[in-house]
Amino acid sequence: MLCRALFVAVLALGSPASALWPAPKQASTGNGTLFIDQTVQVTYNGEQVRWIPYRPHGDDGDENYPGSDFAETRINNQQISYTASYVPPSGPHFDSKQIVQGGLSRTFGAIFQQGFVPWMLRARGVDFEPALGGRRIATLQIVQTQHDSASTFRPLNGAVNESYALDVDAAGHATLVAPSSTGILRGLETFSQLFFQHSAGTAWYTQLAPVSIRDEPKYPHRGLLLDVSRHWFAVSDIKHTIDALAMNKMNVLHLHATDTQSWPLEIPALPLLAEKGAYHKSLSYSPSDLAGIQEYGVHRGVQVIVEIDMPGHVGIDQAYPGLSNAYGVNPWQWYCAQPPCGSLKLNDSSVEKFIDTLFEDLLPRLSPYSAYFHTGGDEYKANNSLLDPALKTSDQSVLQPLLQKFLDHVHGKVRELGLVPMVWEEMILDWNATLGKDVVAQTWLGGGAIQKLAQLGYKVIDSSNDFYYLDCGRGEFLDFDNGAPFQNNYPFLDWCDPTKNWKLLYSHEPTDGVSSDLHKNVIGGELAVWTETIDTTSLDTIIWPRAGAAAEVWWSGRVDEATGTNRSQLDARPRLSEQRERMLARGVRGAPITQLWCSQVDVHDCEGGNY
Ligand SMILES: *[C@@H]1O[C@H](CO)[C@@H](O)[C@H](O)[C@H]1NC(C)=O
Ligand SMILES: *[C@@H]1O[C@H](CO)[C@@H](O)[C@H](O)[C@H]1NC(C)=O
Ligand SMILES: *[C@@H]1O[C@H](CO)[C@@H](O)[C@H](O)[C@H]1NC(C)=O
Ligand SMILES: *[C@@H]1O[C@H](CO)[C@@H](O)[C@H](O)[C@H]1NC(C)=O
Ligand SMILES: *[C@@H]1O[C@H](CO)[C@@H](O)[C@H](O)[C@H]1NC(C)=O
Ligand SMILES: *[C@@H]1O[C@H](CO)[C@@H](O)[C@H](O)[C@H]1NC(C)=O
Repeated sequence: MLCRALFVAVLALGSPASALWPAPKQASTGNGTLFIDQTVQVTYNGEQVRWIPYRPHGDDGDENYPGSDFAETRINNQQISYTASYVPPSGPHFDSKQIVQGGLSRTFGAIFQQGFVPWMLRARGVDFEPALGGRRIATLQIVQTQHDSASTFRPLNGAVNESYALDVDAAGHATLVAPSSTGILRGLETFSQLFFQHSAGTAWYTQLAPVSIRDEPKYPHRGLLLDVSRHWFAVSDIKHTIDALAMNKMNVLHLHATDTQSWPLEIPALPLLAEKGAYHKSLSYSPSDLAGIQEYGVHRGVQVIVEIDMPGHVGIDQAYPGLSNAYGVNPWQWYCAQPPCGSLKLNDSSVEKFIDTLFEDLLPRLSPYSAYFHTGGDEYKANNSLLDPALKTSDQSVLQPLLQKFLDHVHGKVRELGLVPMVWEEMILDWNATLGKDVVAQTWLGGGAIQKLAQLGYKVIDSSNDFYYLDCGRGEFLDFDNGAPFQNNYPFLDWCDPTKNWKLLYSHEPTDGVSSDLHKNVIGGELAVWTETIDTTSLDTIIWPRAGAAAEVWWSGRVDEATGTNRSQLDARPRLSEQRERMLARGVRGAPITQLWCSQVDVHDCEGGNY
């Protein structure tokens, strides 16, 4: 009897029923076993699809990330040879079928080549695997109910319906129905999460049949900001991060492309920017690198939004002197938040011409893939204009109208080139700029900023540093001399200490503290990865699986609609542990979130007490 009770408990614990990440809006699952193999017949809108294992564009990615290496396999002793991987045609014209085909190729790659045996998620010493030879999934029928439009691939906030319905019946027939190809990609990610590798090798199974899922996101904007100026990241790192975002149903990668420290973006019309501004001539993004990154994102339902921060955070003095103030000034504390300072002059026709040239080169290259362009605007200090020979003042009442004129020009140009401007909150809340109501405002300072901006009628993104700054809590990067600087800064914490644990991210929702009539203006959130002390060696462990905690709140909501209560860490942690294992198997090397012991036992055996 005891044995049986234990068995049932183990089954309940081991039940992968709750294993999907992020949690679908509605899901019902059974406990039946179904196997899947490469003989599954796939159709898309009635047409047979031959799926081909996916290999990332070019060769980058393959060697760097284990698990993405595709090989031949045997099923029932029959050799299945994979032909060339499916790489969708390159270029800014997207075809729904190619998008779906790429998604299928990655989905089956994830199941058959990058699966894992979930021993670390099951009780020690218990044989949790199904007996081989059971029923197989015979068909996967994919139906897209509406046509994609050009804006599907460069969507304005909320313009794409990402919903999907996924059913797998006990007889082994699977159907995935969605109004957009993006919805199909989201559904395929869920489908891939149903299956585990069997330790027998060439067998893959789910123990959840029958499955019935109806799913859609709560917030349309679910992003991650990556700063590629403080440290440079290879194109393969960025594409790898896009893949990881898609695994968590996130849909925006915000590239903070330039800052005072480096300008890694090649602008053919202004060649000195990258020639003088990149850390090294090998560390910049060519137009084709950038297009490749954006295109890669479109194929995964991830919009890549580029930011050129201004008027502060601009370090172009060595390339084009005379356009900016305060670059390299020392002491720097009066002019900026970190050296080497630098900001565009506010009332200068050469600056306007520079911006026009920059935007006319860059923005037409972005607009096939993105609806937005971020013009920055954080941490701009009035003191910069003290050093401007034409102004020599830090009087905000003099500078405010000049900044307004600057923004009117910059945003006018963004719109003229077919994109929608985004800004950091300070332009509106500290500098009292009046911007178009199309503008998306990104907050980071916390407090009541979201409420205020939503009230002013802007669409708002939450990047509160109290929750969403993934770089916090690892210590100060500036160096201090002996004596008072050493004493005053001991023990050298960073400004946004402490670390934001996944549980803190998970406790927060962008609409927290915002009155309910304004929720419609809160379009989502972005995690921030500022990279003063982050490079390729730590990128995955800094972001994953932590970012997934915010991704679940943005997709599924803080409140579980089924129970009407806040989602519990006790429900989330085993699923997030599983998501980490899944991501590890796919080559994303996220950090552990608990002891290995905790992931094998009942969650109550790892529950903290109420004291
Ligand atoms: C599977 O589900 C069925 C129907 O709910 C139930 O009767 C059966 O006991 C379950 N089997 C196991 C092994 O949990
Ligand atoms: C998305 O499409 C689904 C299925 O057609 C529909 O039920 C849902 O209302 C749509 N969502 C939005 C926000 O339009
Ligand atoms: C502006 O610079 C002056 C020195 O010129 C300094 O005294 C003042 O504190 C600075 N203001 C700010 C806000 O940093
Ligand atoms: C800004 O520039 C305009 C045009 O050159 C000039 O007329 C105006 O005086 C300048 N404003 C300030 C505050 O210097
Ligand atoms: C913005 O407006 C507030 C409130 O009227 C005022 O205190 C502040 O000085 C203004 N800031 C600027 C830069 O004009
Ligand atoms: C749910 O979480 C929010 C924070 O997102 C918190 O303000 C609220 O009090 C929680 N509700 C309950 C019932 O615990």
